[in-house]
Amino acid sequence: MGETKPLVAITCRVPESGLRLLEARYQIKRNPSEQPLPAAELARFVKGAHAILADLRDKIDARILDAAGKQLKIVANYAVGYDNIDLAAALRRKVAVTNTPGVLTEAVAEHVFALLAAVARRIVEADRFVRQGRFQGWEPDLFVGPQLGGKTLGVLGLGRIGTRVARLGALGYRMKIIYYDRGQKSRQLGAELGAEAVSLRRLLTASDILTLHVPLTPKTRHLIGRTELLSMKKTAILINTSRGPVVDEQALANALAGRVIFGAGIDVFEFEPKISARLLKLPNLVVTPHIASATAEARDQMAVLAAKNIISVLEGRLPLDPVQS
Ligand code: GLV
Ligand code: GLV
Repeated sequence: MGETKPLVAITCRVPESGLRLLEARYQIKRNPSEQPLPAAELARFVKGAHAILADLRDKIDARILDAAGKQLKIVANYAVGYDNIDLAAALRRKVAVTNTPGVLTEAVAEHVFALLAAVARRIVEADRFVRQGRFQGWEPDLFVGPQLGGKTLGVLGLGRIGTRVARLGALGYRMKIIYYDRGQKSRQLGAELGAEAVSLRRLLTASDILTLHVPLTPKTRHLIGRTELLSMKKTAILINTSRGPVVDEQALANALAGRVIFGAGIDVFEFEPKISARLLKLPNLVVTPHIASATAEARDQMAVLAAKNIISVLEGRLPLDPVQS
């Protein structure tokens, strides 16, 4: 039989768990480089593909979809966020777009608390201090920071991740939970955790810790800027594991330098992978390189889910995790 198998173009390294599922069924083409492909190379790379397994660094726009060709059925994003994909362009071409919800929720929520503890207890500063040989013995006021237990945790965006963070905060740290999600209320979190839906204004002014869990859209770009930071408590800590441009990075640098807030823990950046030099000089900022979902468990399951979405669509069924329609 001359029947050829569908072609799956995989733009980044993915764990074996997902790869095996695809290799068993399809022709696979992999980006040999460690780096994301520049637009022109990506266009050539996806030519003839029936499915693209992309990551959040790949800008999948009309040009890339057309470069792939009319046989393209699905773009499976190896991420829960999908602001890198032009959904309208995909819809017009009847190309399904999927993401990896659920499986990285635990990992991201854990990273929120890792960053939070690092900022509050000044772990990174303190680690540097010790390594620089500056530890002369216990001191009464050495690296004093705020306690987290019992504080007010403000959750901006109550999706899966925001909800998981709220639970960890309430159950693990006895935090009072307030949240804002376009004015919506969660009866369940109200009953279960005593969580309270508040206005965005109140979320900003009342939170000891503000953690961001919104997708990046035109409405959420620079949602946290100068005015918002100025309205926060001087003792507040901001955590961002969502998308960099949700925060105005210059405004954040100003707020941290001016001690408008106590500190910030940031996993994502406005101009990723570029980070403004000013930010990196600030002692009250802890940065990580977009690793909130980077647990072995999450990445394995993300790969499996992306592969299952591809298999479902290429076998003529509906996608499991569609992000459009
Ligand atoms: C990571 O940022 C993701 O969206 O999965
Ligand atoms: C992540 O899983 C989310 O959609 O909140």
